[in-house]
Amino acid sequence: MSSLVESTVQETSHAPAASVQSASLPRLGMAAPAFEAVTTHGKIRLSDFHGTWLVLFSHPADFTPVCTTEFLAFAAIAPELRKRNVELLGLSIDSTSSHIAWVRNIKEKFGIDIPFPIIADSNKEVATLYGMLMPGESKTETSRCVFVIDPVGIVRAMIYYPLTTGRNTDEILRLLDALQTTDKHKVATPANWKPGDKVIVPPPATMEDVEARLNAGYECTDWYFCKKSV
Ligand code: BEZ
Repeated sequence: MSSLVESTVQETSHAPAASVQSASLPRLGMAAPAFEAVTTHGKIRLSDFHGTWLVLFSHPADFTPVCTTEFLAFAAIAPELRKRNVELLGLSIDSTSSHIAWVRNIKEKFGIDIPFPIIADSNKEVATLYGMLMPGESKTETSRCVFVIDPVGIVRAMIYYPLTTGRNTDEILRLLDALQTTDKHKVATPANWKPGDKVIVPPPATMEDVEARLNAGYECTDWYFCKKSV
C-alpha cells in the first residue's frame, strides 16, 4: 500500500462503522434523497434545484492535492455546465471555515474562482444519505462520488471513484450530454458516444416494430441494432 493511501485510510477492517451501517444508497431512476445543508453559499436544499440538472459531488478533504486539481477542473467546466442548465454542488465533511479558506487559497495560488457552493457536511448527514462514505477506504473522508440528478429530482447517474483517483470532468460533461440527448430524442447512446455521433434506436418490442424500423430509414446492421442521427 502506498504511503499516500496509508495516511488516509483510517480503518482497514471490512466491518463498516455503526453510523454507516444504516447508510442508504441512492438508486438510479428513484427520487434523490432530500436534504437541507449548510454550504459556502448559505443554506441549500435539494428542492432549490428543481428545474435544473444537479451534479452533486463529494471530495475527501479540503487542502489536498488531487481534490484541488478536481476543483480546478470543475471550475473550468462551469461555463459548459451553465449552457446545459446544470448546477454543481460540492461536499465534504470539512467545516464551512475550512471550505472558505481552501477556496480563497485556490484563488490565491491558482488564480481560479470556485463558482459553486460546497456543503459542510460535518455531521455526515448528506454523506450518509447518499452512501458517500466507504469505510474500507476511509471512515473520516467521503469518497469521490458524483450524483447526476435531473430537473425533477430523479437520480440519473452515479459515479464512484476511490480517494486516489481524480475524476474526469470531460466524462461528466459527456454523461450529461448523453442523458440530455436520450431524454430529448428517446434514444440510447453507444459506447464512447459523443455529441454529433449517431445514437441507438431502442430495440423493438414486437414483430410489428421490427418491420416498421427496418423501413424507417435507420442505419441498421440487424433488426435489433439500428442507429440514427439526431
Ligand atoms: C488528494 O490528494 O486529494 C487526496 C489523496 C488521497 C486521499 C485523499 C485526498
